[in-house]
Amino acid sequence: MKQDLKGFFNPKSIAVVGASKDSRKIGHAALKNILISDYDCKLYPINPKESKILGLPCYKTLMDVPSSIDLVLVSVPAHLVPTVMKDCVQKKVKYAIIISSGFSEIGNHALEKEVADIISHSSIRVLGPNTMGFKNASDDLDASFVFGVPRKGNLSLISQSGALGIGMIYLANNEFVGVSKIIGVGNKLDIDDDDLIEFFSNDPDTKVIGLYIEAVKEGRPFMNAIKACDKPVLVVKAGRSGAGARAAASHTGSMAGSDTIYSAAIKQAGGIRCRDIVEMFDMARALAGQPPMKGNRVGIITNGGGLGIMLTDACEENGLTVPKLSAQTAEKIDEIIPDLVKPNNPVDLVADAGFFRYEASTKILLEDPTIDGIIIASVHGGYARPREFTGAILKMIREKRLHETHQKPILGTWVGGKEFEELVFDLKSAGVPIYPSSWRTARAMYSLYVEGQRLKREALQKENKAKGSKKMRI
Ligand code: COA
Repeated sequence: MKQDLKGFFNPKSIAVVGASKDSRKIGHAALKNILISDYDCKLYPINPKESKILGLPCYKTLMDVPSSIDLVLVSVPAHLVPTVMKDCVQKKVKYAIIISSGFSEIGNHALEKEVADIISHSSIRVLGPNTMGFKNASDDLDASFVFGVPRKGNLSLISQSGALGIGMIYLANNEFVGVSKIIGVGNKLDIDDDDLIEFFSNDPDTKVIGLYIEAVKEGRPFMNAIKACDKPVLVVKAGRSGAGARAAASHTGSMAGSDTIYSAAIKQAGGIRCRDIVEMFDMARALAGQPPMKGNRVGIITNGGGLGIMLTDACEENGLTVPKLSAQTAEKIDEIIPDLVKPNNPVDLVADAGFFRYEASTKILLEDPTIDGIIIASVHGGYARPREFTGAILKMIREKRLHETHQKPILGTWVGGKEFEELVFDLKSAGVPIYPSSWRTARAMYSLYVEGQRLKREALQKENKAKGSKKMRI
């Protein structure tokens, strides 16, 4: 019986096989990352030549460690990995992370099969080979050899590419996207995307799941895991084009498969396919901080007509609608906008719109039952002060009660230069989803719509199930 993943991200004891005194080596970096983590666990360096590394007593082999071990990080050349894995099995280690490269990704399938055979009759769960490991930001454990500390949050990331996974940490920090856990799956010898989706589905620190994949090993379990997951799953599937598929084959040995089939299957399972990492983070920011849309009707508020039109196009092209305002709402909007414009959707507040027009119009749309989500937009057109726009959004987003009562998402978008960017920085750090592009804003809103639909389906299924079991009792 295979170990479940419950203790994988929270091991009580960790050994690093291939720990080294040499600070240029991966085994040194891995040991140091765990050591400097603000995380309470027993830590054992393993190296046949050393008695102490980084101040910790060192053991010649895993078998010499006097107590049990939950997690082993393996950082020795590939040909030594089978011996280490035999020790892991004999020592009844619960989890192992094989950092070492030199397996199926370079065509060495026989070596990977040898490791698979060694673990096949044991309960151990293995991540990799060819992986960076994981970072558990929620619990401050860094079980990887790479630098970078993610900002804490609710997005858990699964990456098939190690380098991209590392880049994602820095990009997420830059974009103010908080991360709970980030994990590199490498060659997916044992622990696969579906195992992790299932784990994150039950992880209280995870609100949104994001994946970078080049291929899945088995389609059915992957799709079933997304289907069963009660959290939004964002998927970047690379290798869309013929040339991209060729690149994936030479990168990780992945067969990218038919892109159309992937798109359809991800959609059918209830996941959201993203074009790239930036789009995934845009959506994650919205999903982690805003309520989902109950329907697809968007209300747009802008001080620039052109930006309003671009947002309308982008929304409509993404399956959302920008409906005409109801007579009642139009009447209310008419009272706050200048006489030279008529109340429409997009609501044109005119170039000199300040705090009041933004705040009052947003509140009116929040109260309108024919609107499911709101985009507030600002162009630094030379009249209006961006501070009044960002101030109005901050105030409304922070007014928890207002937000909770209406259960409608509010997203921001802007067009401008450096002065605006500095203000947007304040908004991002306060967790407000705001984007410098109408397309990106519409895509983020689309993800909130898909999530709303998913929740509706889930509620319906629960209701039908409850009805069914009631009938059974009768
Ligand atoms: N048990 C424990 N330690 C052992 C050992 C064993 N059976 N056999 C050797 N060692 C020690 C070595 O003596 C060395 O320690 P030292 O510096 O004190 O001499 C240490 O383990 C590492 O072995 P070494 O031969 O120096 O290898 P390395 O550190 O240069 O490279 C890997 C090892 C795993 C890092 C390398 O083979 C590799 O795969 N690199 C790529 C990793 C990667 O990019 N992964 C994917 C990321 S996305």
